[in-house]
Amino acid sequence: MRFIRHDRNHPYVLKLKDLPFIQTLLGNPKDDAEKEKFEKIGSYSIYLCACGLSKNKPFCDGHHAKTMQEKPEPAYIYDNDGNVVTTLEKLLDSSGKELNLPKEYE
Ligand code: FES
Repeated sequence: MRFIRHDRNHPYVLKLKDLPFIQTLLGNPKDDAEKEKFEKIGSYSIYLCACGLSKNKPFCDGHHAKTMQEKPEPAYIYDNDGNVVTTLEKLLDSSGKELNLPKEYE
């Protein structure tokens, strides 16, 4: 069994225009038509699941909506269908020491 904690309730957004390899792939447009085409490609975004509930990982499929009502504590445990099955007030390591988990980061 593997226990993974996800703190985000929304996806990571990768804008293609910000990815260096996309800029390298597209290179320098030869003319205005090609420039327009490259700008259109660069305007696309990829949404990566950060909540852990997507059925289409690594991509977000909107299942993060189920996490919108979560509070910072406790930890929520979901089943494979994305339903909350229980919550944990504290997370303990194997020695029984309470884990201090990082807060969500952007
Ligand atoms: S972040 Fe959207 S489904 Fe996980």
